[in-house]
Amino acid sequence: MKRLFDPRSVAVIGASSNPAKIGTRVVANILGGGYHGDVYPINPRGGEILGCTAYPSIEAVEGEVDLAIISIPAAGVLAAIDACGLKGVGHAVVLTSGFSEIGKSEEERQIVEAAKAHGMRILGPNVFGIFSAAASLDATFGPGGIRPGHVAIVSQSGALGIAMIGKTAAESVGLSALVSVGNKSDLDESDLLEYLVDDEGTSVILLYIEGVKGGERLVRTLSKVTERKPVVVIKSGRSTRGAMAAASHTGSLAGADAVFDDLMRQCGVLRATSVQEAFNWVRFLSTAPAPSGTEAVIVTNGGGIGVLATDACEAYDVKLYDDQTVLKETFSGVMPTFGSSKNPVDLTGGASAEDYERALDAVLEEERMDAAIALYCETATADADRFDALLRDLYGRFRDRKPIVFSLFGGASIDRVIRSLRADGVPVFGDVYEAVSPLGALYRSWRGQGREPEEIPEASLDVEAVRSILVTAGAEGRGFLLADEAARVAEELDLPLPASAVARSLEEAVEKASRIGYPVAMKIVSKDVVHKSDAGGVALDLEDETEVVDAYQAILRNCRAYKPTATIEGVEIAEMVRPGIETIVGARRDPSFGPVVMFGLGGIYVEVMKDVAFRAAPVGPRTAREMIASIRSYPLLLGVRGESRKDTDPVAGVIERIGHLVTACPEITDIEINPLVVYDQEDGIRAVDVRILFDPPKGVKRG
Ligand code: ACO
Repeated sequence: MKRLFDPRSVAVIGASSNPAKIGTRVVANILGGGYHGDVYPINPRGGEILGCTAYPSIEAVEGEVDLAIISIPAAGVLAAIDACGLKGVGHAVVLTSGFSEIGKSEEERQIVEAAKAHGMRILGPNVFGIFSAAASLDATFGPGGIRPGHVAIVSQSGALGIAMIGKTAAESVGLSALVSVGNKSDLDESDLLEYLVDDEGTSVILLYIEGVKGGERLVRTLSKVTERKPVVVIKSGRSTRGAMAAASHTGSLAGADAVFDDLMRQCGVLRATSVQEAFNWVRFLSTAPAPSGTEAVIVTNGGGIGVLATDACEAYDVKLYDDQTVLKETFSGVMPTFGSSKNPVDLTGGASAEDYERALDAVLEEERMDAAIALYCETATADADRFDALLRDLYGRFRDRKPIVFSLFGGASIDRVIRSLRADGVPVFGDVYEAVSPLGALYRSWRGQGREPEEIPEASLDVEAVRSILVTAGAEGRGFLLADEAARVAEELDLPLPASAVARSLEEAVEKASRIGYPVAMKIVSKDVVHKSDAGGVALDLEDETEVVDAYQAILRNCRAYKPTATIEGVEIAEMVRPGIETIVGARRDPSFGPVVMFGLGGIYVEVMKDVAFRAAPVGPRTAREMIASIRSYPLLLGVRGESRKDTDPVAGVIERIGHLVTACPEITDIEINPLVVYDQEDGIRAVDVRILFDPPKGVKRG
């Protein structure tokens, strides 16, 4: 990757004497950006381009070429890649559009194959280029003038990436790298992240993602990167329509947003909702000192705005320093007598700039207070210019010692102060929520970095036993397991199922029901009847022998009428499960992220409220427990209104085991345990229904 980010020489294939051509713009940016290596414009006509000797072909270049930027029409790209490969080029950045994003996937595959044959890597196609501060290299067709710094941006969107050049300059965000991944035919975010995590010039990484390819690797890579550096992600396609637009824009698969959101949290990635929020975060994260604790103090001259900031702290999980004795001591000599030293520290509207400065100085000098949130409402007592100088001085004195954010509220003169301070990199905002949000991001990232990575214990599962059940079912042309087969898998998973037995006659039904104990449930057993309830093949809460006899006859009658050709193997008699809290535990093979586990509360919680949590599998006990605690309806499992706490540990065990199974058995596409009934602590769980879908071995039609 060094040849991509710190190349000794760059060729631009498709540079031209026409200054409007994209290739020529790239050469102009390389020269204008101060790159010290060799630059070789390539054009069949040769001659000179922007003062550099142009070569008719890459073969004609005498020296070695580390990096080639390809800016010629799609039809010529394959031949150009071949020529680069023969020349020994390390990386080719293909700007050209017109590949998989418009359905030309085969053409894209061919260029990757050709590059691979020569051991060359490809960035793109369909990209705007690359900027790397390590080499002072701006090999993009952006507006130029990239401000160097410590934020690396990796963008799937070309246009947004290019626009970020201007935006970062305007927002005083300095860049260590700006890379466009486009169609990700070869190099993708994971490859770039693996380089950037070790890049000393990069302290924060911002990813803009539209669709995920290679999600399993991305999750593994991100988890490692966030142990060392903050990663902020913006992903478009949150809404259903947005996801469709993203898929058609880049030709990549847009994963379900809920899965993406949860998996990013699992990896310790900070997901921003807007580009502006992401900028606010990365700018703050790249300049703020490492926190020494997480208890902030709000200093304000307005009570209302102080309350708003308190709300914002709760929303962004920023704790407020709460030792009232220390607060009183700290502020007693530095604030008006009518002010309040409770946190928010309210200096009131009469506070002068000097009062304000003294109070902030006190917070920033006090070791027990970890960060300052400084709020100011415009009043007649402190003039804006005086304020500009005051905040600049405060920030200058403390910026390396403690995280500080400012929020100023007022008219045109306050706006002017905000603009002038922001231009100099001071974290000042107009809105209180905007000010607190980067502090929340800093703390989340810091907590994540201080956390021990979870060791995932080996699973004690007989995967081969499960696989043989799948093979037998697959040989019958089915892509799902029958109840007895699923029960055998459940046994391997240590899942407590209700006691059950299959009856093949009326007499057997009565005998088995009395052995299991009333009340019982009855269900048809037939591989030809998949939707048992729809077929009238289920009867619940049967209290005695008479009800069992009636139900047995009704079930057979209904199912024969529903599907006369169905082979009926019998009727399952099962223990009627006592009511408890109904949950759903599932696992599936996600098209973007591979094996994923899911947990939620059953019924309306999952259907209406979509209150479910996802994690990339396999998961260890800590992640399984966190997953359970992360759903909104978790308080129901903790016990509300005098109910006792529910037995969630065995649920975590089930999540772990099915995560291992779906990882070890790639044939399984879906497992759903629904409902998994959870009882009071020590009373355990019961899995009422287990559905397993799988991909039958090739050549066998799915049932
Ligand atoms: N080797 C060297 N030079 C070549 C070759 C070759 N194999 N083939 C052609 N050239 C020359 C051409 O003769 C021309 O030079 P000239 O002006 O002296 O005649 C030059 O290379 C460029 O070729 P053109 O045919 O003029 O192509 P043009 O520059 O108009 O377009 C481009 C090429 C920019 C790659 C275009 O095909 C394209 O894909 N545009 C979209 C780029 C894009 O948007 N990328 C996506 C991400 S960024 C975003 O979304 C904002």
